[in-house]
Amino acid sequence: MRQTTYLTAALLLLAGPVGAEPTMQSAMHQHSLPAMPSQAAPQAMMAMSAEDGRPLVKLSAETIALLRADMRHMMAAYATIFGQLADGKNEEAAKSIEENLGMTAMKTHPGMMKASQELPDNVRMMGMNMHKSASELAASLKNNPKPAAVFAGMQQISAGCTACHMAYRVR
Ligand code: HEC
Repeated sequence: MRQTTYLTAALLLLAGPVGAEPTMQSAMHQHSLPAMPSQAAPQAMMAMSAEDGRPLVKLSAETIALLRADMRHMMAAYATIFGQLADGKNEEAAKSIEENLGMTAMKTHPGMMKASQELPDNVRMMGMNMHKSASELAASLKNNPKPAAVFAGMQQISAGCTACHMAYRVR
């Protein structure tokens, strides 16, 4: 279901405002000519990322600032967790996952706590789903430390991050 949301958001983004579509397509077409193949991909991507058709979710400036700090913390934790997993320190990883990304993290990050009071239900649910999948991985890591299961769990978490980022903007 999370993947469907992500896909829908991605498709909406790709479609963009009607007026911008021909420009983007002709830009992509032009740059995919054999004359300068190496520049084709980066330029097309830049053209896409400049379009922002995501609906705006209103949050107070203070909440956004706190939330951004929380987000940077989650991103750093995500990298740390990969390191712990790579070293085979699954118990440590499970603890990091729960504390920094799981349901526990929702109660310790001031921006998330504030945001949960201001966010519309559907956006708050996206956050909850992401934290829930992290808690699930933290719990299952002990019973099922097989790489495929760990990768799938980490994928679920990052899909949760991505789904929210692709679907909404706050400014
Ligand atoms: C429920 C929605 C939601 C989820 C889930 C979510 N984010 Fe965010 N994220 C936001 C919002 C809102 C911002 C602020 C955007 C802005 O400043 O314009 C943000 C900003 C960020 C930033 C930029 C911080 C800065 O300094 O500007 C990073 C990095 C980030 N998120 C990483 C993550 C990671 C990693 C995850 C998953 C572990 C995640 N996010 C999950 C909503 C979400």
